[in-house]
Parts: sequence; C-alpha cells; structure tokens
Amino acid sequence: MNNKLPVGIFDSGIGGLTVVREIVSLLPQENIIYLGDTARVPYGSRGKEVITTFAKELVNFLLDKNVKCLVVACNTISATCLPELQSMVSIPIIGVIHPSAEMIVNTTTTKKVGVIGTKATISSKAYSVAISKLDSNIEIISQACPLFVPLVEEGLADSEISYLLANKYLSTLKGIDTLHLGCTHYPLLEKTIRKVMGDHVAIVDSAKPTAEILKKILTEKKLLNLSGIKGKREFYVTDLSTTVYEIASSFLGENIKRKIKKVNL
Ligand code: DGL
Repeated sequence: MNNKLPVGIFDSGIGGLTVVREIVSLLPQENIIYLGDTARVPYGSRGKEVITTFAKELVNFLLDKNVKCLVVACNTISATCLPELQSMVSIPIIGVIHPSAEMIVNTTTTKKVGVIGTKATISSKAYSVAISKLDSNIEIISQACPLFVPLVEEGLADSEISYLLANKYLSTLKGIDTLHLGCTHYPLLEKTIRKVMGDHVAIVDSAKPTAEILKKILTEKKLLNLSGIKGKREFYVTDLSTTVYEIASSFLGENIKRKIKKVNL
C-alpha cells in the first residue's frame, strides 16, 4: 500500500479534532482526512444499533477517499461498535479505548480512577473491562455526563452553566487520583473540570495515547509517510452551522474556516 495515502479520522462531531491535533503534532507529514457527523451529533444518548449504522456510513465515506488506515476519534463509537467496524475493513482501524486504558493504568498511583463519558460509553462498560484487564486492582468510578457534548458544540465550554453542571456530575468522583476524559469533546472543558476537581487530580484524555498507538501501528506496517513535507489536511462535516467554524478552530488550535466542507453521506 502507498504510504502517502491519507489517514482517515472520524467522530460524531468536532470533538475528534482534539485527536487530530495530537496526530498532527506527532506525525506532521501524514495527510489527514477528517469527517465529523455534525448533523447527527450527539451519538452518546442513542442506542447501539443506531450508533453502529451511523458509524458504518462514516467508515464508508472515508474508504471511498482511499485512506490507508482509520482512527475512530470517538469514545462512543469505539465503545459501542469497534469490532463491527473492524470486520468491515481490511486496513488498520484504531479505537480510543485501549490506548486510553493503558495510559490511565500508567498514570494512577493510588489505583483509584474516575472515567467520565457519554451515556453510551459509560453503559457499555468498555473502560471498566479494558482497565481491569490491564490491572484488576484498580477501582474505577464511572460517571456519564450527557449534557457536556451539547454544551461544547454550542461553544459554552467555559460558561457558568458548564461549571454548575460539572459540579453536579463530578460530585460522585470522590478520592480518585486520576480522571480520564472519556469523550473527545471533553478536553475543551478541561479548565472547568480542573476548577471542580482541584490540582491534586491528574486529568488525562484520549488524544495523546491514540496518536502514539497510530504512530506505532503505521511504523510496524511500514505505512509511515516519510515524504519530508507537511501533510495536507481535509475536513468534512455533515452540517455546517455558524458555530462549527469557531469551535472546530478552537479544538484544533488553528483557523480552519476555509478548509471545512459540507458533505452528504
Ligand atoms: N466525541 C464523542 C465521544 O468521544 C462525542 C459523543 C457524542 O456524540 O455524544 O464520545
């Protein structure tokens, strides 16, 4: 396979851009095609069948773009239907749960951790299973935070309402030393979450470990792009509301207004 082919990255919305940011910083030569299903976000309050149907459509769109591998930059999709997606493709496909679980296990010292995510991610128990497989002595407190994604997609991550909500959701996470943001939208709420949790708790997310595992897999499969030039980036969404440009740019840390295109799946 041609190693200059793009890496396909997808999410239910624009949260997956937090993963793109890490991938761009770790693998700057990779060409990237991103797809966010902004017309149907959030996925996290839906059932497995619907999430799987939507996710397959996202995969098919990226396969048509001839990507060399896929990154599921969404905890909800990874937790709900990664095996189903794996069985439909012959290229490598990476989810965020396993890389994140390894990082959580390596971060905690007291073996008491918190995991927050969408309703679908938390009720799947994907994190509890993945963490316990690595270290069965770790105590995990899980908490669904269903209103966080809409707040972020509305550009309200830093608002009073986010703070009030974070206080309510995070009150169950007593005595932990590590909190995992198990949704790729949540890094944008990190300031608010930090205010509630205090400085003594390590806050980690899926972006870095996923970028690292992607590098490892591309290296192993001899698929790393070694062209020596900066990779091209294309961004597709299924709905372009007025807030998408601003929020997408703040997720990615650069202005991508002219690079986002709307597509129909
Ligand atoms: N970024 C997605 C995740 O990681 C958001 C979930 C949603 O669409 O509800 O879970």
